[in-house]
Amino acid sequence: MKYYLEWPEPDPTNLPPPAQDIEPWGETRVVGKPLPRVDAYERVSGTALYTLDMALPDMLHGAILRCPHAHARVTRLDTGRAQAMPGVRAVITAATPGAAIPWYFRGQGPTSMLFDEHCRYAGDEVAAVAAETPHQAILAARAIDVEYEVLPFVQDDAVALTPEAPAIHEGGNILGQETSGRGDVEAGFAGADVVLEQTYHTPCEIHTPMETFVTIARWDGNRLTVWDSNQGVFGIQANLARALRLPLTSVRVICNYMGGGFGSKLGLSKYTVIAALLARTTARPVKIALTREESFICVGNRAANTIKLKAGVKRDGTLTALDAVFLGSGGAYPAGATSTYLVQALYLCPNVRVEDNEVYTNAGPSRAFRAPGMPNCAWALEQMMDALATEIDMDPVEFRLKNIATFLQINDTPYTSIGLRECLSDGAKAFGWSEARARPRGRGHVRRGVGMAAGMWAYPGDPRATVIVKLFADGSVNLNMGASDIGTGTKTVMAMVVAEELGVPLDRIQIEHADTGTTQNAPSSGGSQTVLVSAPAVRAAAIEVKRQLLELAAAQLERPVEQLVFQDGEIMPADAPDQAVALADLRGLRGRQVIVGVGRRHPHPEGKIALPFAAQFAEVEVNILTGEVRVLRLVAAHDSGRVMNKLTYENQVFGGMAMGIGLGLTEERILDSRQTGKVVNANWHDYKIPTAKDVPIDQTCVPIDPHDTECNTTGAKGLGEPAHIPTAAAIANAVYHATGVRVTDAPITRGRMLSALAERRGE
Ligand code: MOS
Repeated sequence: MKYYLEWPEPDPTNLPPPAQDIEPWGETRVVGKPLPRVDAYERVSGTALYTLDMALPDMLHGAILRCPHAHARVTRLDTGRAQAMPGVRAVITAATPGAAIPWYFRGQGPTSMLFDEHCRYAGDEVAAVAAETPHQAILAARAIDVEYEVLPFVQDDAVALTPEAPAIHEGGNILGQETSGRGDVEAGFAGADVVLEQTYHTPCEIHTPMETFVTIARWDGNRLTVWDSNQGVFGIQANLARALRLPLTSVRVICNYMGGGFGSKLGLSKYTVIAALLARTTARPVKIALTREESFICVGNRAANTIKLKAGVKRDGTLTALDAVFLGSGGAYPAGATSTYLVQALYLCPNVRVEDNEVYTNAGPSRAFRAPGMPNCAWALEQMMDALATEIDMDPVEFRLKNIATFLQINDTPYTSIGLRECLSDGAKAFGWSEARARPRGRGHVRRGVGMAAGMWAYPGDPRATVIVKLFADGSVNLNMGASDIGTGTKTVMAMVVAEELGVPLDRIQIEHADTGTTQNAPSSGGSQTVLVSAPAVRAAAIEVKRQLLELAAAQLERPVEQLVFQDGEIMPADAPDQAVALADLRGLRGRQVIVGVGRRHPHPEGKIALPFAAQFAEVEVNILTGEVRVLRLVAAHDSGRVMNKLTYENQVFGGMAMGIGLGLTEERILDSRQTGKVVNANWHDYKIPTAKDVPIDQTCVPIDPHDTECNTTGAKGLGEPAHIPTAAAIANAVYHATGVRVTDAPITRGRMLSALAERRGE
């Protein structure tokens, strides 16, 4: 299903027309270069002010009391003892005036409240405290007297689907259930030479951004300002305004430096609303910074998936049918739990059936997490493709090349461009695939193998973005855009777009961004849409500035605009370069002091869809005595359209693959489902994310640029999410190549590797 609450469906009928006709770029001079980030010094020197670093005068600190039970009802709540604790300035509960805020909308209406007496997982918000220090706030929250009626809980997704399971929401535990597809799968299987069936499992993973979850709220009269670590200030503003019943103009959301989110900071979270309520109650600024432990428990995760996949293929490598049953475990307030997209779209296949089941469980809520559902789906589909290739004795790259779909089969829409063929072939070449595939896999206890997997991303972006570029009297520039830079280099890339168009050096461009009070609407930095939505708007704004400058120059040089050219920050007649005028010498500019250009993102192309594609290759070493898997080498070939900045492009790819190593080998939230229902590894010691030691030094990024002139006016198609989709599956396939053993449950821990090896030996 679609991850809702996070990315709005764009409404292509109501978009503004493009500000001007803008030609696609040909060769670029600045865009594409491997330029360091414009804020690199601030970030590495520690001078960049993240929300977590901020403090306001007179600021209080908030803490949240969370339900300790996996499923319970609050039967009595007494805040008396907490109110009397030292430093305490406010305690709020469901009974506090203004706190009865509906929360979690599913279909028709709200299914719970901000503080709900029905607690659906161990971590659900029950009450909150504001005090002079964080320590006082935490102690007071613990001192709130609560009595719970403890209810039976369910955390197993298959059990949650049964009628006997405790109901988590009114109306039961089904979040979504649907079957879709095309053709006739039974006929497809009947026509196949080989049919394989396998069940795959991927774990629940936690986002664990470097900066935890934090808000500072301050009221000035009835106007609220919120500094909040999030991925999109306008979405947070809209939802916060709705929750507090305020007009948009009374809610200002600011996020300057941002320490990662990966999807967990796309939507409005309860702690942000709670900070606003505490600040209103106390008439003082309130900061709530969730602890690392809380960030593991209650602000999102990647839903665990079980995927049963059956596939049919002919000896010549033609796919005849795909039949998949998905079961996703969404937790108590999920934003979605599965994605069936790759099964339906990645490979040419006439007969496809997908049954999608998503359930509520008494656990922390799932949220969008870097390509929601898709690395999970790739884990299944791409291991199946590998197994089919083995069965028909065809090279896995060859097999995929044979099954490339040239249009989106879900709705028969052609792609604006598709570089999947080049991702596969150029990636294989860069990896040395054929040679590596033929190399001996080692005897002894250390085995080597290579594997690969492909992928694509599904979201074309919400094209509603407005940007302002201002050029000052000395020719320096202000770039004013709403988009957040969540750590990916957005500011740098956008400044490069301005530099490309106006010929202004990067250090003469000042950037103002992600502030609903001072910048214009932009979609959230999620869904891999930031560059492909905001960069065309930046380009349009810069071109509008250029148009006005050319008019001023035409008056000064007494030449028609058509005879003038704009080059390296100067304007000159095409036939008389000696008459060139520097921008700062334009009399009209001196008279105005500032030129303002407003740019809007143009609509998506009609009748086509722009999506990115990928293929990744891995070499691993497996110690069959200890079960340890080491990733030795990775190659990523991506068609994400134009490379805007070679350096930040590689950063994205390497980051996505590091995260993929986590899914493939180490990351897994563990619940104590037999007894307490709590997360037992809610910390960075027991929940293993890959570190520098787990990431191979030998990583190569192979950009594939299909020179797409239709997708948008920059030719870029989005990279953040595709970079993460195939990695874990490629590793699993390499493990199979090394050992002859397929581990279908992620992550491939030493224990799982050893069990799989023992099973093959018949132990
Ligand atoms: Mo992402 S999961 O689009 O931040």
